[in-house]
Amino acid sequence: MNFLTYVMHLAGSGAIAYYSAAQIRDPKTRPNVLAGFQLAESGSVPFLQALSQRATAEGDTWLSEKLAKHAEDEKKHGQIFAHALKQLDKKVIDFKSSKETTKESKSQEGRSPFFAAYFKGYSPEQLKPAVTAWNVFMPSTYILELDASKDFARMANVLPESDPIARNLKLGMLNIAQDETGHAAYLYEAMMRRMSATQVQKLVDEWRTRKVDALMAFANNMLQSKNSNRSLVQDATPSESDSELIAA
Ligand SMILES: [Fe+2]
Ligand SMILES: [Fe+2]
Repeated sequence: MNFLTYVMHLAGSGAIAYYSAAQIRDPKTRPNVLAGFQLAESGSVPFLQALSQRATAEGDTWLSEKLAKHAEDEKKHGQIFAHALKQLDKKVIDFKSSKETTKESKSQEGRSPFFAAYFKGYSPEQLKPAVTAWNVFMPSTYILELDASKDFARMANVLPESDPIARNLKLGMLNIAQDETGHAAYLYEAMMRRMSATQVQKLVDEWRTRKVDALMAFANNMLQSKNSNRSLVQDATPSESDSELIAA
């Protein structure tokens, strides 16, 4: 990694960390942040399960087991965020059953500005679990897991101790952060099993640079677009939503 990329990485992750910490600390924006995490964590489960099956088919039992455990962990993370939302009387909007499911919202979910920049040069087809190259999946996911572990820990630490619901969420997020560290560790090991240390370092550097570019794309999009604050949550009970409308 060159020095500029390193500095940009620190600046970029610092800015995003500041933004996400502020968003999760504020009780008004907290549900939307939690919903985003629930969707992301649960959304990765089928992908990881499919990769685990592919590793089995290719004869790599070690990798298959790691991926299966990874999928289980992400399922658990999704449940932790769903539970936290429930405690706030909120839940993720069911986009499948809502009329909002337009082609546009679908494609936006599939290809956020962040992911479009991160996977620049790869079509969604090329990233499907049946065909994605292991030397793309491993380093790209390694970087995301490594950063997620730090981001979740940072966010957990800004949650207030005084509020029991927030405290519960804090403990859950610290646990999640630990799991993400474990995911990064096995992905690194998986690369070392298949490649030389020099090749691994080259890939890690490449995906670190891509992450910096993706953070810039994400930040740009947030500054320009009004769409990025689209609500992902609804009230868990209709009566609650009525009373909130009156209160607001
Ligand atoms: Fe996770
Ligand atoms: Fe993870």
